[in-house]
Amino acid sequence: MKLLVTGGSGFIGSNFIRHVLATHSDDRVVNLDKLTYAGNPANLADLEHDPRYAFVQGDICDATLVRDVIRGVDAAVNFAAESHVDRSLMEPDAFLKTDVFGVFTLLEAVKELKIPRFVHISTDEVYGSVERGSSRESDAVRPSNPYSASKAGGDLLVLAHWHTHRVPVLITRSSNNFGPYQYPEKVIPLFVTNALDDQSLPLYGDGKNVRDWLYVLDNCAGIDLVLRKGGEGEVYNIGGGHEVENIVLTRQILQLTGKPETLIQPVKDRPGHDRRYSVDSKKVRQLGWTPRHRFGDALAATVAWYRAHEAWWRPLKSGEFRAYYEKQYGHR
Ligand code: NAD
Ligand code: DAU
Repeated sequence: MKLLVTGGSGFIGSNFIRHVLATHSDDRVVNLDKLTYAGNPANLADLEHDPRYAFVQGDICDATLVRDVIRGVDAAVNFAAESHVDRSLMEPDAFLKTDVFGVFTLLEAVKELKIPRFVHISTDEVYGSVERGSSRESDAVRPSNPYSASKAGGDLLVLAHWHTHRVPVLITRSSNNFGPYQYPEKVIPLFVTNALDDQSLPLYGDGKNVRDWLYVLDNCAGIDLVLRKGGEGEVYNIGGGHEVENIVLTRQILQLTGKPETLIQPVKDRPGHDRRYSVDSKKVRQLGWTPRHRFGDALAATVAWYRAHEAWWRPLKSGEFRAYYEKQYGHR
């Protein structure tokens, strides 16, 4: 297959490109990425000289560029997004542009150029907070913050293009990912790198919000399966099956880094903080997917990766990040 991957220089996209080229030796990948603060060419430095890989810097909202890069591909997989909930509470504009209008721009190109397959990467956050039970793909979307509302807007446009024009789309909605190359604003890499530096871990509210953790390579295998075997017009949840309260996760990180619990710093809660996410992954399991990594082992491997890759994350925690950190946490 010749693939267009959008947002491939971010956390999940870069892991996905590496997964595809490692498991399908004849595939080729073009990566279109704007290189926002979250996009990092270093995430794919090992593929720089691989003739099967090409990089184009650009915006998925740029209709002319999108048509140029998508022409002739067998499939496009869209990871490009503004992805951090806390940033969407401070500056939502970019979320609407990329996560809604950017998706629309891709869909129009897929429709006009008759691209055979379009996989859109979405999130379990579109279902909103789930106090009991687990969300099915047929459940209504009830997003509750600007990030998830923008992602839900993108999803609805994807499904509308299927219903009205039979554009060959598929959607995955995964739970919280963790693993190598995750920008250190998200809770696991933030807490691991803060702990390694003996800095406090700002735990929101009562620390009892629940997330369902999925190792990024398991998500990549699920997306790859949906890309090759999924049904057109279908949505597939991909959940890690490991639900845990933030406080429990925080203690595990401190144990793995060998740091004391006195580093935990309870801070004012995130406004509108969703209590719990949980997805039912029966449908993707019926396609043949199952998570291969045990949570405890994967978390230990992730901590070891950040320990061994200081040269990757330390530059990311300076400059723009310092200003963001002060704005986000300074007043809490
Ligand atoms: P990320 O923030 O690490 O990476 C996003 C990438 O998109 C970056 O490389 C960035 O430069 C690029 N990008 C942003 N705006 C762009 C634009 N207008 N045009 C082109 N490129 C642009 O995000 P991630 O954590 O890798 O998430 C990838 C996708 O998976 C997102 O759609 C996100 O909503 C979804 N998702 C993430 C998680 C998670 O836990 N991280 C869970 C479920 C779903
Ligand atoms: O559920 C999937 C979603 O997971 C993705 O769609 C998003 O792109 C991704 O960012 C993630 O969203 P969350 O808001 O769940 O992830 P985050 O890492 O920001 O927070 C995880 C939990 O940890 C959440 O309950 C808030 C809490 N938290 C987070 C940060 C950054 C803290 O307690 N302190 C923090 O400093």
